[in-house]
Amino acid sequence: MDTTARSGDDQGRAPLVTFEDVTLSFEGLVAIDDVSFEVYPGQLFAIIGPNGAGKTSTFNCISGVYHPSAGRITFEGRDLLGLPPHAITELGIARTFQNVELFPMLTTLDNLLVGRHVHYRSNWLRDGIWLGRARREEVAHRGRVEEIIDFLDLESFRDKPASFLPYGVQKRIELGRALVMDPKLLLLDEPAAGMNLEETEDVARYILDVKEELGITQILVEHDMGVVMDLADEVAVLDFGRKIAQGRPAEVQSHPEVIRAYLGASTDVGGDGGAAAGGDAARTGEAAIGDTTDRVTDGGAS
Ligand SMILES: Nc1ncnc2c1ncn2[C@@H]1O[C@H](COP(=O)(O)OP(=O)(O)O)[C@@H](O)[C@H]1O
Ligand SMILES: [Mg+2]
Repeated sequence: MDTTARSGDDQGRAPLVTFEDVTLSFEGLVAIDDVSFEVYPGQLFAIIGPNGAGKTSTFNCISGVYHPSAGRITFEGRDLLGLPPHAITELGIARTFQNVELFPMLTTLDNLLVGRHVHYRSNWLRDGIWLGRARREEVAHRGRVEEIIDFLDLESFRDKPASFLPYGVQKRIELGRALVMDPKLLLLDEPAAGMNLEETEDVARYILDVKEELGITQILVEHDMGVVMDLADEVAVLDFGRKIAQGRPAEVQSHPEVIRAYLGASTDVGGDGGAAAGGDAARTGEAAIGDTTDRVTDGGAS
């Protein structure tokens, strides 16, 4: 299996994102090693891999925080390299972070209004929210914010400071803050990390709603294999900065290199290359990856 598998209806469409032969190094450590992939409009594209594999770094390259030493990244055909993060946000790329990054003392509503400010034409912070044009804009933008509050079922938390709310709700507010930007591309960095089963199921449902109701293209980094396998249209697997596999979830799951990356090289995956994607091989892969989820998650945020 190689890098070209993707859902059939993408054939012939222009990619939204191209990540082309990208290499990123930190003082000798190669965090991303010549990685390429393409993401198509409407896709839910997942990136998985053990801790330290380069997943967050990939997001940091797309959003302009890190600067690759080689390669090319484009969005809607436009070169992103060299653009500062705020310019990339304005092109329509929003993200959530591996750790919650909200204004803790601001309410849900105000955290979302801050997120929306990317669309404000007057300088929201300088003019103040209640003055002149800024105020008229604020009223208009508030409508969109209310829609997202509704979409994410945040109504009962709207006037509470973020820091008083359960972790799962804070992560949802963070998702909301990204959505109020009306992004064309959403980067989700471990949205289910640290969540219990019920919260994880909630998050999975909202991610699916973002795809199906809002039609927003998403790149999902997630350790919870159940979430990835249920939701993703396509999965790329990183290990030590290299892309070791890409394909549909079922293909990736049974790929021997992937199983090896998650379990360690000593594991006998029972086969000569795992080309058989059939029942037994696929189940073996599923069990193997599922079994390691705890270990991987326990490794903590990196
Ligand atoms: N700012 C940085 N400075 C030095 N090393 C970094 C930096 N960011 C990431 N790394 C290293 O790059 C590798 C990939 O990290 P990261 O992309 O965060 O992995 P992942 O998100 O897959 O767990 C790790 O070895 C990490 O320590
Ligand atoms: Mg990470």
